[in-house]
Amino acid sequence: MALAGVVCTMMDTTVPGNVHKISQQHNALTITTQHAEARVWIYSPTIIRVNVSRHFDAQDHSFAVIQPPQGNIRYDDSPDELSIHTGELELRISKSPLRFNFYNADGILLSGDDERFGTMWQGEKFTNYRKLFKDERFIGLGEKTGNLDRRGSNYVNWNTDAVDYTPKSDPLYKTFPFYIGLHSGLTYGLFLDNTHRSFFDFGASTDHSMHWLGADGGDLNYYFFGAQGVANIIQDQTWLTGRMEMPPLWSLGYQQCRWSYMSAKEVLEVARNFRKLKIPADAMYCDIDYMDGFKIFTWNNETFPEPKAMIDELTAMGFKLVTIVDPGIKIEDGYKQYDEGVKKGYFATYPDGELYIGEVWPGRCHFPDFYKAEVRDWWGKSFDALTEPGVAGFWNDMNEPAAWGQNIPGIMRFGDKYMPEVRNAYGNEMSRGTYEGTKALLKGKRPFVLTRAAYTGIQRYSAVWTGDNTATDAHLLLGCRLVNSLGIVGVSYVGVDIGGFSGNPTPELMVRWNSLGVYTPMFRNHAMAATVMREPWAWGKQNEKIIKKDIEQRYKLLPYIYSSFYRSHQTGLPVARTLAIDLPFDELVYDEAYQNQFFFGDNILVAPADSHQREIDVYLPAGDWYRFGTDEKITGGDVISADAPLTDLPVFIRAGAIIPMQSIVQSTAEQGDGILQIHVWNGEGSTDFVYYEDDGDTYAYEQGAYYKRTISFNAETGNITFSAVEGTFTSRFDRIMIVSHGFGKTEDWICYNEPTEFTVR
Ligand code: GLC
Repeated sequence: MALAGVVCTMMDTTVPGNVHKISQQHNALTITTQHAEARVWIYSPTIIRVNVSRHFDAQDHSFAVIQPPQGNIRYDDSPDELSIHTGELELRISKSPLRFNFYNADGILLSGDDERFGTMWQGEKFTNYRKLFKDERFIGLGEKTGNLDRRGSNYVNWNTDAVDYTPKSDPLYKTFPFYIGLHSGLTYGLFLDNTHRSFFDFGASTDHSMHWLGADGGDLNYYFFGAQGVANIIQDQTWLTGRMEMPPLWSLGYQQCRWSYMSAKEVLEVARNFRKLKIPADAMYCDIDYMDGFKIFTWNNETFPEPKAMIDELTAMGFKLVTIVDPGIKIEDGYKQYDEGVKKGYFATYPDGELYIGEVWPGRCHFPDFYKAEVRDWWGKSFDALTEPGVAGFWNDMNEPAAWGQNIPGIMRFGDKYMPEVRNAYGNEMSRGTYEGTKALLKGKRPFVLTRAAYTGIQRYSAVWTGDNTATDAHLLLGCRLVNSLGIVGVSYVGVDIGGFSGNPTPELMVRWNSLGVYTPMFRNHAMAATVMREPWAWGKQNEKIIKKDIEQRYKLLPYIYSSFYRSHQTGLPVARTLAIDLPFDELVYDEAYQNQFFFGDNILVAPADSHQREIDVYLPAGDWYRFGTDEKITGGDVISADAPLTDLPVFIRAGAIIPMQSIVQSTAEQGDGILQIHVWNGEGSTDFVYYEDDGDTYAYEQGAYYKRTISFNAETGNITFSAVEGTFTSRFDRIMIVSHGFGKTEDWICYNEPTEFTVR
């Protein structure tokens, strides 16, 4: 029996009740019920927003959404039901009681409210109970442990300093309340835009009779995506919440980090060793110990006496420096950021106005109210202490926010908001302040921003990493799922601590994990204090050789990787992508044995093996494939057994693939041999690849200073054609070489200056 129009007698439980009135204002259709108001907006033919509220806030602020709704909504009104058609999607709203059901253009149900319960409040907490289809799977939610298919699991979003997290822990550092449902050959997406503590249950404890989502406060405020195909939904979701800028090219090289290189001398020694051993690298990091007493925007005078001289020397060696910043501002008279912050009222408070104090690395701290533009601006300008000596990357940590005890009281306030209402967006607002501030200070150069805590939309400001993982095989594999799942929610620029943050990896684990780093969007080696040294040369000569070769492979692939980032910048589609994006209804994709596999860019399939495995089962989707390391051709459409020596991670190239590569360079600052290698693997279908290049450093690409051309392979004729160049940038390569694989000829390496067509057969 439906709970039609009644206030339940259960513990303080309310339902919206029946529809009384319908009106239209500000692009929204407003539906008044007995105990609530619902609003509907159309954002595009495939995106409809629904808000069900008891106290709708007219400010209607979103931390994530950057697009406005469309104009007037046309709807049909009958005694029982309202219906809204967008051409591609139909929303039917039943009136008694209020229920929302979404259909595709053919009138087939995509998703909707559970008929019995719909939406309910218990106190301020609301839950939206939804239908669960028998064959329904769920992917998404970003940085969440567990399986690729989230069916049968439940999750909480509450950004947490997840020290020592395990492959089962929840919540972790980030909140992405967006998932994609897959059933009956259909796809849909749902984004709950709400920064309170939120929860999702995918049929975990209801005898698979429904799934549900909700939050401790705020509105049931969601965007429904009705596009067909996972990729189309990701494109829509990132259209709505933004896409990444082109990252600085140097940040796609190898990054060496540690908590901490304790002095300028040590930073320089490590950097010099890379050059001495000819192991390519682009970035060195300073973790918290570069500061004076962990005071943000300061340098330790004794151990880092001349930051500029250190950075100049790094620059001369082709390195960039990234430094960490945490939100906690040390309470210490005479410390600029403390004095200014207190004077100007920039810190979080208790309800009586007293400044909140929590302890973090520096000891007792105040926490900036990044939700205020003025505070972000102040924060952003403070980075001059880092940019003046030449820091190029800005690592935002502890921004869940973290304080020892991990239990900031709920009465802590940011302006007029209590912390629990906006906590999950703190990391975004800090990263936004960092991004906007450093972008202004760097005068036209792209800042590299990295953050631990995040909310939907973070890709507009920052790359992310998955926090404090552990040096275990389970984390190596979990890392793949985390990265792939972050890709589903629109975050392409992702890394994990290669080697595992805490604990000491075995040499085998280090080597294996490093080989996986090649195919991770951000490739950073990082380790906790008091662990063994992690640099490539710390593992014995034999292992150093393997690690070096893998890092060289990363550098060879940079033209392909940069083009893949361009695609992500344009479309929102991730660089590392679960097979579920292309093959959402393929059972094997979700099999626990294969769920960690992913595509890196369009054409490379990576099958992660752990450090003990020397042979693994790999699911190769239909089509022909080539083992990257050997060029052995393999027919897909089945599970195969693949050798997995530590020297050759199982990586496969799609037949017909075009992969641009370059010669080995020691850093992205190096020119290389000037030859762009276009590798082509023989295949039966015709393919193309959009090659993209720009200066890798500035925003000139936004004014057309790029070099872009489509390279096509015609399987019938064996012709490779190059479209005319788009954009005003002159390629850094002055020759192009075609490298053919699987065509029977081995000696067809040819150089061209301005090629338009070439035959490989
Ligand atoms: C946090 C970060 C870690 C960093 C450490 C010290 O644990 O997650 O990456 O090294 O703090 O700053």
